[in-house]
Amino acid sequence: MISTKKDRVYIFDTTLRDGEQCPGATMTFEEKLEVAHLLDVMGVDIIEAGFPIASDGDFEAVTAVAKAVKNATVAGLARAIFADIDRAGEAVKHARRGRIHTFVSTSPIHLAYQMRKSEEEVLEIIAKTVARARSFVEDVEWSAMDATRTPLDYLCRTVEAAIDAGATTINLPDTVGYATPNEYRDMFLNVRNRVPNADKAIFSVHCHNDLGLAVANTLGGLEGGARQIECTINGIGERAGNAALEEIVMAIKTRSDTLPYECGIETTMLNRASKLVSAATSFPVQYNKAIVGRNAFAHESGIHQDGMLKNQTTYEIMTPESVGVQKTSLVMGKHSGRAAFKNKLNELGYELGDNQLEDAFARFKALADRKKHVYDEDIEALVDENISTAQDLVKVIALTVIAGTMGHQSATLSLDVDGVHKTVQTTGNGPVDAIFNAICAIIPHDAKLALYQVHAVTEGTDAQAEVSVRLEDPVSGRSVTGKAADPDTLVASAKAYIAGLNKLDAKRRQAHPQHNVA
Ligand code: KIV
Ligand code: ZN
Repeated sequence: MISTKKDRVYIFDTTLRDGEQCPGATMTFEEKLEVAHLLDVMGVDIIEAGFPIASDGDFEAVTAVAKAVKNATVAGLARAIFADIDRAGEAVKHARRGRIHTFVSTSPIHLAYQMRKSEEEVLEIIAKTVARARSFVEDVEWSAMDATRTPLDYLCRTVEAAIDAGATTINLPDTVGYATPNEYRDMFLNVRNRVPNADKAIFSVHCHNDLGLAVANTLGGLEGGARQIECTINGIGERAGNAALEEIVMAIKTRSDTLPYECGIETTMLNRASKLVSAATSFPVQYNKAIVGRNAFAHESGIHQDGMLKNQTTYEIMTPESVGVQKTSLVMGKHSGRAAFKNKLNELGYELGDNQLEDAFARFKALADRKKHVYDEDIEALVDENISTAQDLVKVIALTVIAGTMGHQSATLSLDVDGVHKTVQTTGNGPVDAIFNAICAIIPHDAKLALYQVHAVTEGTDAQAEVSVRLEDPVSGRSVTGKAADPDTLVASAKAYIAGLNKLDAKRRQAHPQHNVA
């Protein structure tokens, strides 16, 4: 029998915290604000904006998000340490609805090797730290880190202690992505049945994707009675990532016949959110990623295309429009004017300010001069690149490369470094090496090149090349990815490397405001 009664589930997005903390997904202050704004408009219930004690930059970002967000609750993460909790309280106090999310490990492995504390000591810590968080805000979330590897009896004692001390949300994370859906469901059923004060809190799922089970486990947790879902856009997060928001939301919507839940997400914004997060983090979305991958609605085989032409439902369980993928016929080219360009941007889900629009239009015109047909993907690449470069200290002014079979490859590169023009000529083992050597000559730095990747944005020999460059910061051990697109692969390579350096610079300046790139 089809159930019509639906339970409201709360979407807790941790793209800006668990997502941003994964290697290569680092975002600048402005990018975090932009993502937070979009999440808020899209209907996310709780935005975890960061880990305020982690750095001054994180603190500033959480504070700014707390001030800017209009609808969602804004959460700041804190370890079970008073200094962390106080800092989180300070950052979220500006929010219309602020939450402190504090956590401590509960599993025997973590207690023995990481915490070096006994079970009783951890119970005391929980009581004290949750009470401390409650002295700042009414809304306190407590997480049992590594809950899925914690014996049930002890897990129940920790949950009871946290609720007694004032926690209003209890999160039981599958921190290491070890659970299976039935186990995860049963854990929630058992804890909720056994803990005497369980009815005083909302239970929350938080799943990592190490075995590719994060979304399945999330649905298992809902079946066990959890009503808050922690997730990230594009599933970015530690190691293999977190459960992907867009997958969970569309599963609930598409299979409402068997999943009796509803949430407040405007699904037509999912594609835009995916693009924005990918651009802000320079973290590419895999082509066959469910819901938001480039191929998610592409039908290649003849049999499928035949079916689709006869009736879309033959091979489509949800429409592209329902997740914000527009099928548009407006072909853009060098004769397209500002109004058509703006219209196209709106179709693609972008709302740019006047200056950003002018800048993007000028870049579109330059691209249209070089490329006969400008496809939607070209425009997205162009605008996304623009969004992530607006605050950059270093910009590419000009590049000339001599390549081929005769002699050394050389690059002559001019950069604008914080308003100062600098030019060098260098050689290299191939044109890309020559360009990167030129960048190092103008901006000596200690970052290590960890990845260089090129792919074509569209088809054809005049397609834009999208280049990703991952740089590792030997100081913090973290990495950033710079991305750029251009019909000239070598220009895209230079811009991508510079984008990476700018990101690294922004990150370092957030941590140490005195720092400067050059
Ligand atoms: O995966 C995890 O356990 C976490 C906690 C901090 C909630 O991210
Ligand atoms: Zn996590």
